Amino acid sequence: MTMGKKASQCAVHIKKHTSALVVSHIDADGLTSAAIMAKALEREGIEYETRFLRQLDLPSLNEIADNNPQLVIFTDLGSGMLDAIVELKLNAVIIDHHQPQGTYECHLNPHLFGINGATEISGSGVTYLVASEMGNNQDLAALAVVGAVGDLQHVKNGQLIGMNRQILDSGVNSGLLRYEKDLLLFGKQTRPIFKLLQYSTDPYLPGITGSEDASIEFLKRIGIRQHGEKWRRWIDLEVKEKQQIVSALMQFGLSRGMPGYRIERLVGEVYTLLCEREGTEVRDACEYSTLLNSTARYDHADIGLAVCMGDRDKKYDEACTLLNEHRKNLVEGMNLVKEQGLIKMENLQYFDAGNKIRETIVGIVAGMSMSFVNNRNLPIIAFADADGGIKISSRGNQELIRKGLNLGEAIGEAARAVGGTGGGHDIAAGAFISRDLKQEFLRILNDKIGAQIK
Ligand code: C5P
Ligand code: C5P
Ligand code: ZN
Repeated sequence: MTMGKKASQCAVHIKKHTSALVVSHIDADGLTSAAIMAKALEREGIEYETRFLRQLDLPSLNEIADNNPQLVIFTDLGSGMLDAIVELKLNAVIIDHHQPQGTYECHLNPHLFGINGATEISGSGVTYLVASEMGNNQDLAALAVVGAVGDLQHVKNGQLIGMNRQILDSGVNSGLLRYEKDLLLFGKQTRPIFKLLQYSTDPYLPGITGSEDASIEFLKRIGIRQHGEKWRRWIDLEVKEKQQIVSALMQFGLSRGMPGYRIERLVGEVYTLLCEREGTEVRDACEYSTLLNSTARYDHADIGLAVCMGDRDKKYDEACTLLNEHRKNLVEGMNLVKEQGLIKMENLQYFDAGNKIRETIVGIVAGMSMSFVNNRNLPIIAFADADGGIKISSRGNQELIRKGLNLGEAIGEAARAVGGTGGGHDIAAGAFISRDLKQEFLRILNDKIGAQIK
């Protein structure tokens, strides 16, 4: 069976119902997935409620079952808990892109069709496939692209590939989206240019990242002018000025001995939502996804969902306020990792943020840390305090994956070995265990990763 055929089956099953509970993940991909499904249900006249979870575990599944929903639609999660869903006899449709554990009848997941769920399609993309089968929902392609970019699926190749690319193309053809090669630094639509440098984390610009003065100095030295008192945004610059900055940044990287793959990461494909107002946080897919992460990862999924559903008014303003907090937290988190350093084991390196980094963003901080740690030959494992235990996040890189690293598998198995839960993708995975089992978990994980990459 093809993935399209399976998507069609899921759509038919959903349309047999009059109400549904949509359960999704608290990140940009989870929010856009839920929004795509919510729109599709709304258009079919099917009533729905939404619920957002940090992770799908047994207590949350039990709670869902207790409410006896007619139909549960899991988006961007569920594939790691298939056996438990069977056990609870839930009437469910699972639309996910995480590595599956177990089997389930109504389960749409790219891994079942030999498609890579970390790079070729995200939760929102898979949900878009189902929505397209439910009715005339092609306008939701833009949200699907925001979700894929939110999961960093464009990073490996500097552009969206595979099924993501097909969704992108359909969005371009219907005039919703545009793509082009451009600087990848964050904030091109909304921030004064020096802030792009000051907050650059991927690549990390030694001596510039983190310093407003150095960022401004860099721009002045290459002759980029202020307009009166004000610095312009990237979108206000002339093409010549943009080229000047990009080549100066590349020169800078070379002069600092930055490796080629890091310098290359300065430019890549960027995705513009043509229906959104220029200069706003939702015009650029990357900024949009960060805006969404600023809501759901801080217990305000309702705000992010409202933005996805089209609110550009009060909820949108609230999201923008949350965005400032989120950016600050990420910078503080990075500084903490830099100060505290990482502890090395044979096959991994880790830090424990305790209660200093929120468990819902410690994975983002771990990913950003990859761009400045000295040792790229070891995956980064991060710990943060969570309710009733400890949250683990991990990030690898393509070189490690080529050697055989699969973090989703290793973390999942190590977590289950100490009575916890976990899973994810080859390049990024997470888990939840009890705090007193941290050392035991690390020992097992170290062995598992060792076995993968040897
Ligand atoms: O839960 P979910 O699948 O949505 O999250 C995927 C995670 O994988 C993202 O947080 C993203 O940061 C991470 N990722 C990564 N590098 C990639 C692809 C994904 O760090 N190349
Ligand atoms: O939380 P974090 O961003 O580190 O998660 C990385 C990946 O691991 C995400 O795709 C997330 O959905 C997955 N994960 C999981 N089970 C957990 C925690 C995270 O599958 N308990
Ligand atoms: Zn996802």
